[in-house]
Amino acid sequence: MKESDRSSFGSRFGVIVAMVGSAVGLGNIWRFPYLVGENGGAAFILIYLLFSVLISLPVFCAEFVIGRRGRASAVGAFRNLAPGTKWYLSGFTSILAVFLILSFYSVVGGWGIKYMVDSVLLKFTQDAAGTDFAAGFAQFSTGNWAPLVYMLIFVVITAAVVILGVEKGIERFSKWIMPILFVLILVLVVRSAFLPNSDVGYRYLFQPDFSKVTSQTFIAALGQSFFSMSLGMGAIIIYGSYVKKSDNILSHSAITVGLDTLFALLAACAIMPAVFSFGVEPGQGPGLVFVTLPHIFSNMPLGSLVAFLFFFSLLLAAVSSAISLVEVMVSFLIEECRCSRKLAVFISILTQAVFGTLCSLSLKPGSPLTLGGLTLFDLFDKISSDYVLTIGALLIVLFVGWKMKKADFMDEMTSGGTIRLPKWLANTIYWLIKAVAPLAILTILIFS
Ligand code: PHE
Repeated sequence: MKESDRSSFGSRFGVIVAMVGSAVGLGNIWRFPYLVGENGGAAFILIYLLFSVLISLPVFCAEFVIGRRGRASAVGAFRNLAPGTKWYLSGFTSILAVFLILSFYSVVGGWGIKYMVDSVLLKFTQDAAGTDFAAGFAQFSTGNWAPLVYMLIFVVITAAVVILGVEKGIERFSKWIMPILFVLILVLVVRSAFLPNSDVGYRYLFQPDFSKVTSQTFIAALGQSFFSMSLGMGAIIIYGSYVKKSDNILSHSAITVGLDTLFALLAACAIMPAVFSFGVEPGQGPGLVFVTLPHIFSNMPLGSLVAFLFFFSLLLAAVSSAISLVEVMVSFLIEECRCSRKLAVFISILTQAVFGTLCSLSLKPGSPLTLGGLTLFDLFDKISSDYVLTIGALLIVLFVGWKMKKADFMDEMTSGGTIRLPKWLANTIYWLIKAVAPLAILTILIFS
């Protein structure tokens, strides 16, 4: 395809907003705090931060380079860059990842909508302080119909934005959400700080206890880092393919990785002090945020209003992430199967709805939808990040480090020589991609 034939982002700011929009989502606000709780707190966070700088940032640059140089979706980009080889097959891991992630992501997105509706119904006023929010969440999330209806609403909203296309839909939409969400999380961080016993939460977050670290901690931290930054499954490849040659890959990547990490840390600082203050079980898994936040809201003035604004912006952040997942599938169907955009979106909605339903129903006690003791929901959640994204990321760094010419990589990183990147910095990134990241990912995969 000629450069002018492809849709593209309207401005540099639009590119950054869309990438941050893809990265910041339920991964930061729902998944990160619950993994911190399951994996013993500060030690997990430290490992997560280390991986984000040494592995995820280089993987981000590598994906970006593949996307912008390959000018297509994951499968097509590999084919364009390495014609006549089998590398294009590695693009198929991204389709598997999209499918697994969208299934449980839509369920959790639906939970967010339900809590937004609850805040309109004034369920988080100060009269509600003392309510057993854990029981309420368990009853709702294991129900027959309500979680399915909310999940479907989430699926439809996502599809509507994707149909509008890249610039009108994704870019315009993402610009407003992030700043609002950021301010609201700050409000919650401050409220949490003044709760009784909040110091226990801070100690949990910032005083590492390395006796809790196992091989599972490493894979969980690495998988979460990829999940949170939308890596290892072609989302940054497809967004990168919409970016102009003059844009600076390294600075876009660093900004996205940095902001994403900031959002995750702030979410943890909002949640963990409240977990200990209200006696919520930190290691309870996916329900953590939905049980803890209502406690915070019902213990603050104007709780229902803050709750509404929070869940509304969380919903939009989740949608701006989900659209990047859908876009991977849709661009694949358009390029490889010659579907129209509408048909591709329709196919994507249908799979999302069917597998979202199965994931949601698997949470019912006694449900047969389990495998090896894990519900389908937990299984999809776990294997997508810990294995599919990790393997996807490994293939991406191997491709850029060993198949692509170094000169081509440098040409992208410097936008054809127009951006002056210090030599040591460019070389450091290159060696992180070529040697450090693949070795680290392989080691962690083997030992987990
Ligand atoms: N990064 C998104 C989040 O944190 C989820 C996501 C994963 C989006 C992979 C696209 C690709 O919520």
